[in-house]
Amino acid sequence: MKNLLIAGNWKSNMVKSEARQWLEEFSEQDFPENAEIVIFAPFTLLDMISAYIKVNDLPVRLGAQDISPFEKGAYTGEINVEQIKEFGDYVLIGHSERRSNFSESDEMVNKKIEMAKAAGLNIVVCVSNLDQVNKLSSRDLVIAYEPIDAIGTGNAEDPKHTSEIASEIKNQTSASVIYGGSVNPENVKKYTGLENINGVLVGSESLHPRSFVSLIRNAV
Ligand code: PGA
Repeated sequence: MKNLLIAGNWKSNMVKSEARQWLEEFSEQDFPENAEIVIFAPFTLLDMISAYIKVNDLPVRLGAQDISPFEKGAYTGEINVEQIKEFGDYVLIGHSERRSNFSESDEMVNKKIEMAKAAGLNIVVCVSNLDQVNKLSSRDLVIAYEPIDAIGTGNAEDPKHTSEIASEIKNQTSASVIYGGSVNPENVKKYTGLENINGVLVGSESLHPRSFVSLIRNAV
């Protein structure tokens, strides 16, 4: 069986007390060993979550949802690679919500990729179409294919189409491809069962520890 990446993207949700409760409920469960589980948490929670993972030996990796395109210095409001590396070893770059709400360009996405790569972080870069794949400066990373219409709508993409796009991405790059967009415990296997899909990126269903655990179990 292939090793899967199952990543939860909490987006701009949760305060410390909620995250702690999530972790407590999550850690009461057993997890399949052949999946890499990652949580992309808000910056404000990285410290607490990384401490919890260490103390409780939780089989979970931690990542940030964005990264500064610059080194440390006079960049008010930005969180740089070294700051992220204190707590986690993954970073999500170029999510469609950042591209649309914060005007993040392909050029900016590439700057962030280069910065994270140089720092040795594991990168998951999000794309919504093949055009965005073509514009990536680096192609040996994890690409999360997330069609816009499927994000947060409950309308997950037809897995046949997902498979076609994943093949195209694999033809053009040496990336691992994961799917994101309304993935839930019931439909997850339709994607992780595809030969050219290496995992999933999960938004809303990752906010509930029990659904996230069922999703992980059903995925493998
Ligand atoms: P969703 O979000 O699972 O809520 O559709 C996915 C994502 O935006 O990464």
